[in-house]
Amino acid sequence: MTQEIHKKVLQHPIFNLIGDNADELGIDCYVIGGFVRDYFLDRGTPKDIDVVAIGSGIELATKVASKLKGNPQVSVFKNFGTAMIKHEDLELEFVGARKESYQRNSRKPIVEDGTLQDDQNRRDFTINAMALALNSSNFGQLLDPFGGRKDLALKTIRTPLDPNVTYSDDPLRMMRAIRFAAQLKFEIEPHSHQAIIENKERIKIVSKERIVDELHKILMSEKPSVGLKLMHQTGLLPLILPELTALQGIEEIEGQRHKDNFWHTLEVVDNISENTDNLWLRWAALLHDIGKAPTKRFHKKLGWTFHAHEFVGAKMVYKLFKRLRMPLNDKMKFVQKMVLMSSRPIVLSEEFVTDSAVRRLVFDAGDYVDDLMTLCEADITTKNPNKQRKYKNNFKIVRQKIIEVEEKDQVRNFQPPVSGEEIMKTFNLTPSKEIGIIKDAIKEAILEGEIPNEYEAAYNFMLQKGKEMNLNQISDEK
Ligand code: CTP
Repeated sequence: MTQEIHKKVLQHPIFNLIGDNADELGIDCYVIGGFVRDYFLDRGTPKDIDVVAIGSGIELATKVASKLKGNPQVSVFKNFGTAMIKHEDLELEFVGARKESYQRNSRKPIVEDGTLQDDQNRRDFTINAMALALNSSNFGQLLDPFGGRKDLALKTIRTPLDPNVTYSDDPLRMMRAIRFAAQLKFEIEPHSHQAIIENKERIKIVSKERIVDELHKILMSEKPSVGLKLMHQTGLLPLILPELTALQGIEEIEGQRHKDNFWHTLEVVDNISENTDNLWLRWAALLHDIGKAPTKRFHKKLGWTFHAHEFVGAKMVYKLFKRLRMPLNDKMKFVQKMVLMSSRPIVLSEEFVTDSAVRRLVFDAGDYVDDLMTLCEADITTKNPNKQRKYKNNFKIVRQKIIEVEEKDQVRNFQPPVSGEEIMKTFNLTPSKEIGIIKDAIKEAILEGEIPNEYEAAYNFMLQKGKEMNLNQISDEK
């Protein structure tokens, strides 16, 4: 075993405090997991610190907390044998070293006390199983029985035990392997890769929340296609996001082909990730074409069509979020809106860009118009440089026009310049469909650019419209 000593990363006084208290209790303890990994990867010093005690983690945590300023609360999770303390900006998690074994059809392990080696054995990857000692006798000593440091240098994701055992113990680890590969730009070692393929069905026993957590992390990595491709290669993707795999393939009828919308989607997600860190906009990129699989048709005259795929896709977003137990909140509505509107700017940019078309786009997209443009720019994946240039240029024009139209008419969060009440008063109306007709006509006139988005112009337009509808104006006082 290595005798390397690493005190530099343990400079924070909390580590000595934990070590001294462990000495007093006569138990050994170590920092383990992500903290050690990220230190060696130079990813800064993480704020989440996992401490493993060869004995009671809860007892150690309680003792440490009693010595800390302000005596922070210890949150104890008896069932898991863990205890958590929040201290300054740190989150300290204490756990007693465990030996775990799992039953075939359950995520619930049988847990017994164990040695450090038992604890390291049951961890997910060699790079996450490294431990640094905290007791005064060996403070800073690295315990790395599986060659985690070597795997960091080789950029390899490897399990400490036979991968079939490690993945079967906690099938979420298959997603974690892919997530770490995507985040850290590491390779999954071939046996491990194969074991994911063989154990993929076991992902079904993992809670959706935990899977979605990993999906989010894959989506937030620099190049999400890396993780998504691994999910695809290992067969996890159809089990988690079958809507996406349904997009794969190119069909040809009468010499007409359509593009492979799965690979296209991956490109779009990578493209958008260069321009935004908004997780939900990245989700929108991932799902923007899902309506294309169920709407695909071949017409003799038109060729391949995906009629109303945006509408169908937006509905599918709801079902997908629900299935994955993601909150059905305003984030979901945002993704739906992006999917629903995802073809609007491209249609716009193919023609001569008129003010009124842009005004309608801003009116419909509201505050999300910039996000929508970001999505649509990412959607340009044509390999034809002329087309590429043309679309990009047209989107530039659309963006410019959005600014101009907004300066003039402010339709982004449209408020009718003349209220329904005023219409009723002017024509002595009780609530009736006429009011809706007039309000709509005013809105249309503004969007078409016939009148500016101003009270005076809208009021006069209302009078005119009322006349056309044979309504009696009771007073022309404003
Ligand atoms: N771990 C594990 N199996 C899991 C989850 C976690 O063996 N399914 C172990 C790993 O040793 C891991 C540690 O628990 O390093 C802490 O897990 P967690 O906080 O989820 O992840 P980190 O490795 O800290 O990484 P990140 O913060 O990026 O999620």
